[in-house]
Amino acid sequence: MKIFSGIQPSGEIHLGNYLAVIKQWLDLQSKNDCIFCIVDWHAITVPYDPKILQQKIKEVAAIYLTAGLSPKKNIIFTQSAVKEHTELAWLLNTITPIGDLQRMTQFKEKSAKHIKNVCAGLLNYPVLMAADILLYQTEVVPVGQDQKQHVELAREIARRFNARFGDTFTLPQARIMKIGAKIMSLTEPTKKMSKSDKPETCIGLFDTPEQIKKKIASATTDSGQEIKYNPNEKPGISNLLTIHSLLSNKTIKDLENEFTGQNYQTFKQKLAELLIENLEPFRNKKSEFEKNPAIIDKILANGASRAEKIAQETMEKVRLAMGL
Ligand code: TYM
Repeated sequence: MKIFSGIQPSGEIHLGNYLAVIKQWLDLQSKNDCIFCIVDWHAITVPYDPKILQQKIKEVAAIYLTAGLSPKKNIIFTQSAVKEHTELAWLLNTITPIGDLQRMTQFKEKSAKHIKNVCAGLLNYPVLMAADILLYQTEVVPVGQDQKQHVELAREIARRFNARFGDTFTLPQARIMKIGAKIMSLTEPTKKMSKSDKPETCIGLFDTPEQIKKKIASATTDSGQEIKYNPNEKPGISNLLTIHSLLSNKTIKDLENEFTGQNYQTFKQKLAELLIENLEPFRNKKSEFEKNPAIIDKILANGASRAEKIAQETMEKVRLAMGL
């Protein structure tokens, strides 16, 4: 199967990105043709600091590699290195109704958050995302719950294009995990964990053991002391149970049994230990890559030239179909 997915180089890459998405990529990489992108053009649709963008791009690349994604088997590259993404995005803009973009949940949320800085790029964000996906004739897009709507729109744009200009694009489909597709904020467990929120709301993949212990210890839990999964009534402990289950590969039922009769504090201590152990490779490897940035530059350059070949083939078909 042809797989495409990406992460924005903005804020801290967090546990939600890792558990819901990168872990899916790790499962998919051996048997599929996978492309993993660092989507920098998406990251500039809200206010950002140009001085640290390149550093953020390298950080995301380091995370992909440390997590275990193979740069030989997969194509790993930065979106802005392949100009065809913007060309296709422009063309797809011409067949995408504004109303479809205005009703996107992420647009509504982000435009409310950055009320003084709502640029046209934020509205058109899903069209660029559709271009990312369709350029590589992608069949499956592994994402978290919050991106499902955008992948569905990409499918609709592809369907509309094919109907108007002839069969050109594969219709893509989202792939979402049954458990953990939406990891929640540590302090407000009814909201999703997000890169743009305060540090105490999320675990970053480069957090130190002290930061992890502190954040988990002060994570919001619910009334009572029982370690029981019930997202409606006990969203805090249910989120922590989900995180534990994904890291330990134990089912939530098994964890409930294991922690019967124990209190939140004991559970949190165990979870913090598990997180520290699982995230250790990220902390160690980060400094290794920082010492030798040329490794990442080479991998991204190689990925971009492999991606570009596929993108150019698709663009030839698209231009022909559209009479350009
Ligand atoms: P981004 O960088 O915001 O998020 C990257 C991926 O992480 C998922 N995610 C979560 N999953 C579970 N729980 C959470 N709290 C959580 N927060 C984020 C997101 O669903 C996403 O899959 N628009 C995309 C980037 C993108 C893209 C693409 C993805 C651009 N082009 C093409 C797939 C295909 C995004 O928001 O990334």
